[in-house]
Amino acid sequence: MNQQPKNLKEALKNKLSKKDFKFAPKAYDSFGNIAIIEIPKELEKQKKIICDTLLEIQPRFETICSIESNHEGKFRIQKVKIISGKKQKIALYKESGCSLEIPLGEVFFSPRLSNERLRIAKEIKENEIVGAWFSGVGPYPIVFAKNSKMKQAIAIELNPKGHEYAIKNAKLNKINDEKIIFIKGDVKKQFKKFPKHFHRIAMPLPHTGYQFLKEAFYCIKPKGIIHFYEIIEKGNFDLPLKQIKETANEQNRKIKIIRKAVVRQFSPTKEQIVFDIQLTN
Ligand SMILES: C[S@@+](CC[C@H](N)C(=O)[O-])C[C@H]1O[C@@H](n2cnc3c(N)ncnc32)[C@H](O)[C@@H]1O
Repeated sequence: MNQQPKNLKEALKNKLSKKDFKFAPKAYDSFGNIAIIEIPKELEKQKKIICDTLLEIQPRFETICSIESNHEGKFRIQKVKIISGKKQKIALYKESGCSLEIPLGEVFFSPRLSNERLRIAKEIKENEIVGAWFSGVGPYPIVFAKNSKMKQAIAIELNPKGHEYAIKNAKLNKINDEKIIFIKGDVKKQFKKFPKHFHRIAMPLPHTGYQFLKEAFYCIKPKGIIHFYEIIEKGNFDLPLKQIKETANEQNRKIKIIRKAVVRQFSPTKEQIVFDIQLTN
């Protein structure tokens, strides 16, 4: 009897040599109709076999792309290459009742933060004004619009492609024009328009987000909440905590950390974390 393989690794068992099989990947990221997979350098020549196999065992995917770089530059873009299936790079992805079009290789997007987006959406109270900074193709403000009773989100994104798709995605989800205001621009320049304006700000810009903490303290209302993300060596919450406390002090704002948690594994030694910072003045 022909049994379906449990996962990609198992499906590759009879297709790779014993030596190569040791490096066979198990995991991949699903972007709806497109999957992207990191192929270890030891299996460079087996890329096609691996991607064809994934397409075979997961017919919901039309296209399989390989990851060709880390997330790089100020737009945090990851290069991807089509290896198997249809020649397309626009992913049609769904999460929390929202549909998103994502031009892979031109914008940042991670499906691994979907739980985090929904968690925040559920915490948003009626009539809140939310800062969705570093908004990319719009997943944070769009998930908030569909899953909360917020009054409005202000979404700010520097990458023109991200901004273009965020507007497209809001339309795709039939979100009222006043519900999300999309601004193409730099948070460093835009923040001045919003003194003590937001009940809540989401700051999904790990690595350099701490450089925008001053702006977040300027824009958050008394008693507001900032969701601040960072990448740390596993368990080492101290450095971002120090940056948060120092910046709050400099800005004469009093804070309480109401949550610190790991949101996803980033590498074998690093993890992405979130601090929920509640203002007490
Ligand atoms: C880690 S990505 C998050 C994107 C999106 N929120 C998501 O979760 O898919 C960070 C985003 O911030 C944008 N960005 C970087 N620096 C910025 C700045 N100074 N002002 C506005 N956006 C910026 C990048 O282009 C990128 O799209």
